[in-house]
Amino acid sequence: MKRIIVLTGAGMSAESGIKTFRDADGLWEGHDVMEVASPEGWNKNKELVLDFYNQRRQQLLEVEPNLAHQLLVDLENNYEIQIITQNVDDLHERAGSKNVLHLHGELFKVKSVRSDSVVYPWKKYLHIGDIGEDGNQLRPNIVWFGEAVPMLDQAVEITKTADILVIIGTSMQVYPAASLIHYIPVDIPIYFIDPKPNISNNSFENLTIIPEKASIGVEKLIELLNEL
Ligand SMILES: NC(=O)c1ccc[n+]([C@@H]2O[C@H](COP(=O)([O-])OP(=O)(O)OC[C@H]3O[C@@H](n4cnc5c(N)ncnc54)[C@H](O)[C@@H]3O)[C@@H](O)[C@H]2O)c1
Repeated sequence: MKRIIVLTGAGMSAESGIKTFRDADGLWEGHDVMEVASPEGWNKNKELVLDFYNQRRQQLLEVEPNLAHQLLVDLENNYEIQIITQNVDDLHERAGSKNVLHLHGELFKVKSVRSDSVVYPWKKYLHIGDIGEDGNQLRPNIVWFGEAVPMLDQAVEITKTADILVIIGTSMQVYPAASLIHYIPVDIPIYFIDPKPNISNNSFENLTIIPEKASIGVEKLIELLNEL
């Protein structure tokens, strides 16, 4: 089976009802991202940060995977699919995708402020005073701006093994995630699905831009893959 690496961003989950942030002038659900997704924001106002992720967790409990998530699961019948997602939601897993790597962490997990290895599944509210087994405050298990990306090396190695690269719903503005595209083997086909694609046709050999929302875009992708 050919191996497709699928790099997904916030646009993948837009049709499930989760907002992206570039579409809202760099605000994430009405917040400056640096207030809610950076170590500086956390040090400035922990209550605000916890409240923001409590709301995101609550929202995630209320939404469902969309058609695009489902179509990627169906593709596993004919291809080896590895998803590398910037998303912190669990909609790929809930749809049934088998291989999902979360580059930027997961909303339904929390970790100690002192140790990346003290991690717990967490679907409820997180409060000041909730501590881990190491005695330290728990925080969202999210990679904030300015923090190291622990899964990056693994993502790079996976990307190098692609026969085909598919990119869905990302503005390609957040690094190092956006740099993964540079690790693919030369000349493999790249499909870029986004209603406002932030990539130019001249940038890569074999780049096909599908300027559609994720559900329609993945349907078109499947037609194109069938023609390969
Ligand atoms: N669902 C989530 O987990 C979620 C939501 C918002 C932000 N984030 C975080 O914020 C960062 C955002 O970077 P990003 O590049 O992923 O997102 P982004 O917000 O920077 O860009 C979103 C992209 O999705 C596209 N888009 C909008 N609607 C779409 C649709 N229906 N179908 C397909 N594409 C659509 C937009 O044109 C845009 O290019 C990530 O690090 C991510 O962790 C995550």
